Amino acid sequence: MENKPPTDVSNSKKRKRSDGPKPQSQSPLAIKKQKLLVSRQNLPIWSRQKDIRESLRQHSILVLSGETGSGKSTQVPQFLLTEPWCTGKIAVTQPRRVAAISLARRVAEEMGSPLGASSPASKVGYSVRFDDNTSAGTRIKYLTEGMLLQEMLRDGALSQYSCVVVDEVHERSVDVDLLLGFLKQLLESGKRKKPLKIVVMSATADVESLSRFFSTPTPKSEETSNGTVHGDDEEFQGFSDDEQSTPAEKSQVSTCRVEGRQYPVKLHYIDKPTEDVVDAALQRIMHLHCKEPMPGDILVFMTGQEIIHGLQKLVEELAGNLPPEYPRLLVLPLFAALPQAAQQRIFERAPPNTRKVILSTNIAETSVTVPGVRYVVDTGKAKIKQYRNRLGLESLLVKPISKSSADQRKGRAGREAAGQCFRLYTQQSYEELEKDTKPEILRCDLSNAVLKMKARGVDDVFSFPFLTPPNREAMEKSLLQLLLLGTLNEDGKINDIGRKVARLPLTPTLGRIVLEAARPERDCLLEVIDIIACLSVENIFLPTDTEEAREKALEARSQLHRRQGDHLTLLAAVQAYAAETSDRKRWATTHLISHRAMQNVLNVRKQLTTQCKSLLPNPTVRSTVDEDTQENILKCFLKGYHGNNIARLCPDKTYKTFAGNQTVAIHPSSVLFGRKVEAVVYNEFVFTTKAYARGVSAIQLKWLEDVWGSS
Ligand code: CDP
Repeated sequence: MENKPPTDVSNSKKRKRSDGPKPQSQSPLAIKKQKLLVSRQNLPIWSRQKDIRESLRQHSILVLSGETGSGKSTQVPQFLLTEPWCTGKIAVTQPRRVAAISLARRVAEEMGSPLGASSPASKVGYSVRFDDNTSAGTRIKYLTEGMLLQEMLRDGALSQYSCVVVDEVHERSVDVDLLLGFLKQLLESGKRKKPLKIVVMSATADVESLSRFFSTPTPKSEETSNGTVHGDDEEFQGFSDDEQSTPAEKSQVSTCRVEGRQYPVKLHYIDKPTEDVVDAALQRIMHLHCKEPMPGDILVFMTGQEIIHGLQKLVEELAGNLPPEYPRLLVLPLFAALPQAAQQRIFERAPPNTRKVILSTNIAETSVTVPGVRYVVDTGKAKIKQYRNRLGLESLLVKPISKSSADQRKGRAGREAAGQCFRLYTQQSYEELEKDTKPEILRCDLSNAVLKMKARGVDDVFSFPFLTPPNREAMEKSLLQLLLLGTLNEDGKINDIGRKVARLPLTPTLGRIVLEAARPERDCLLEVIDIIACLSVENIFLPTDTEEAREKALEARSQLHRRQGDHLTLLAAVQAYAAETSDRKRWATTHLISHRAMQNVLNVRKQLTTQCKSLLPNPTVRSTVDEDTQENILKCFLKGYHGNNIARLCPDKTYKTFAGNQTVAIHPSSVLFGRKVEAVVYNEFVFTTKAYARGVSAIQLKWLEDVWGSS
């Protein structure tokens, strides 16, 4: 069956001649759909539509590789929707919520469908943490990997789906590795009544290792879990059955490579290494803007939200002082926690006589395609999660990217026409970069992954089919961590607490904190939910990067600051905001707090409160938080952090961590900054110029016995 493009030009002509409705009466959705069809047909993947559909009629699994922008994420689900086997939904997973939301929006437009919950007629929706925007009629559902994992805990056979498209596999997040393992187990288990088709998509040519992964049966014994191997980066041209599979499993997996469009990109390096990349980026942006003719937007790769906001201010300041004959500059930040409304602006073409400058984290490397870009400025760094086994700490560290990341970044300049890429590092530094970024599973805390496996009934986690098996020591460490958290029994089986924690859309640590707060002895569930809601969104406090701004903020927020530290300060802020009934926006401005972030906090709070209803049916509602409750709240955090994220003051007046005995300073953003207290609990360990604890509260050492003594 051919998937007829929904052009229907002939039909509309016929209608014009007859008495039927005139084209003008077409709905705006239908008009937009027609317009977008032309660009869809120009995508490299369009000509492969028949192959892709045919392949999934013959095989259960398709491994599809193709350059970013070739049309994989938007088109493949639409190609498959009308296939005879596709009677259920199609899930399309994304590593990031920004991508899930923007893809759903785009595909809804392309299909002429309303988006998500807005209408029962909607065919496309998305589901990301704390935001489920789907309707009963949803057929294509974009969702984060974590959300599909959550769904698998509730319905192990994924019975409402006919197809799972696992996108952006090259990013190799822990969640995607888990998902691939679970899907492989599901296919092998024979638990499905109807067929389930799997499409695994990647922007790099790693098809061989993926197809081998799926065509090698999962070994039953423990040792063989090491048997999964990485293939060479051999490129598959065209379409082929998987040649690696043994005759018995042959034809389960097929592979396909879509050639993308790539115009030449001129590469520039700097001659001498620079210390100040923000300044180097600023100079480069302004130079490009003033010297290079329009059109052509500029995409700058930076490390994180704070540094992006800092650069944004500087660029806007300089751009504001340019003589009027220069085109305008529109600076747009792009990072994972970006709110929805701001995301949308990235995809819009710049207004006339305006050049866009997008300041992005590595999210624009492959996850999000920004149209109009002709110039790329690459700082060569990214913030990556790093788990340090010895210290038992997971932290976000600014690290040099890999060669393949640098090449992806460069490629972004040549999508629509010839472009230029400016690397703010030397050629020698490039040569010294690692070839590929290590999969996250080799460098992160595995307790979340292990708990998810346990909750899905994988008792022997060492024999789980991993694409890349993690370090055994790291797995053992997380098993121990989960045991200490009280989520596993001595025999390693998941217990009731563990099952409850696994079902919450939170890390095991935060989940355990919530569960502790629901114990009648603590009874501070609502307060803890408020704090955790704040930790789940972008920073609620507007950034203060100068001393002057910090002082101003200190004054504006003085009524909210709590001397016990940041946790209770966050709580005070949420409660004050929620209690404000007249003008919340004004309240937020006066207190230098982000109104947008606070709206998100209230949304998360609502959803978490609903999800936690069964944990404590009648939690105490308080208008003020007395001292006992304050103590209980912090004790819940101590329970969840169980020995981690705690530091005590030493005689030399520095704080040292409990686990690892490492010196750590209180971050300047904390209300405890500059104060010396007996001990502190903190949410995050970050390393910038030195080791900092962020999100810090004062605790008493004598509380530890009470907390750790109880189960
Ligand atoms: O998945 P892949 O990177 O191969 O491509 P895609 O995400 O399907 O994007 C194909 C094209 O759709 C892009 O080049 C954009 O022009 C467009 N697109 C868009 O305008 N807005 C989005 N949110 C996603 C894609």
